[in-house]
Amino acid sequence: MNKVLIATEKPFAPAAVEQIKLVLDEAGYQLEILEKYTGADEFKNAIKNVDALIVRSDKVTSDIIDATENLKVVVRAGAGYDNLDLEACSKKSIVAMNTPGQNSNAVAELAFGMMIYHARNAFDGTSGKELRDKKIGIHAFGNVGRFVAEIAKGFGMDVYAYDPFVEKQEIEKHGVKVFESAEELYKNCQYISLNIPANDKTKKSIDYKIMSSMPKNATIVNTARKEVVCEESLLKVLEERPDFSYLSDIAPDCRETIENKYEGRYVFTAKKMGAQTSEANIKAGIAAAKQIVNYIEKGDTTFKVN
Ligand code: 3PG
Repeated sequence: MNKVLIATEKPFAPAAVEQIKLVLDEAGYQLEILEKYTGADEFKNAIKNVDALIVRSDKVTSDIIDATENLKVVVRAGAGYDNLDLEACSKKSIVAMNTPGQNSNAVAELAFGMMIYHARNAFDGTSGKELRDKKIGIHAFGNVGRFVAEIAKGFGMDVYAYDPFVEKQEIEKHGVKVFESAEELYKNCQYISLNIPANDKTKKSIDYKIMSSMPKNATIVNTARKEVVCEESLLKVLEERPDFSYLSDIAPDCRETIENKYEGRYVFTAKKMGAQTSEANIKAGIAAAKQIVNYIEKGDTTFKVN
């Protein structure tokens, strides 16, 4: 019998686990669950004999992969797979997949939750600002970026995007104006929604030059990864520009400095929670379970990333 392990340091909503179990039951697979684990050893023990693995942002390092004896497929129930050591997976002929799009609406909604909370001064009773008529620049028009655009239009914002990998016409079809460079996007938009993946090219790519070029009351909303922002630059811009704010799902490493020095100019979630809704967990979880069954039964490698 094929065994599937869900290893989630930050658990799925219980309803999602139930739905994953239903998919696996139907295929005659056995589900094992490791939630809220605290160290790699627990993960290594749990993964030893399983055939498939479902994770979220859990770090699947070469050490973890080395501890597996039967693993055939790992699915990151979510979009970003920077937590998977793809080389280690490939070396052991383990297929790695993600489930793009399944949790994107939840992430986009959180971006607006942070924006409203910040624009209304954390609901402290003082006069805040509105989002209507403000310019928002969406940096990367993927699954999350598209939901951000849709919601931004609902708020009456003026919506722009930059994405070198998506045709201009495709972006325009969504009623979004296109800038041809990241520089132009940042220079023109008060709000920037960061939706780029974290990879060797993008890490620390949001630097001093681009952040300091933003217009008055600049606000960066990061629901992507903390690593894409250069923290040294971020601190410099926050110091130089009292009108600059940084809202991030997953606080930067320099969180304490920001919290001590720049009150009212940041919002950080307690734990990465963009995708932390039962709807997103259910959709991503079901997709992950189905992808595992389809791979093991039929060799279907849709959404393979290695
Ligand atoms: C993703 O890449 O899908 C999101 O960042 C969500 O990550 P999470 O499943 O760890 O919340």
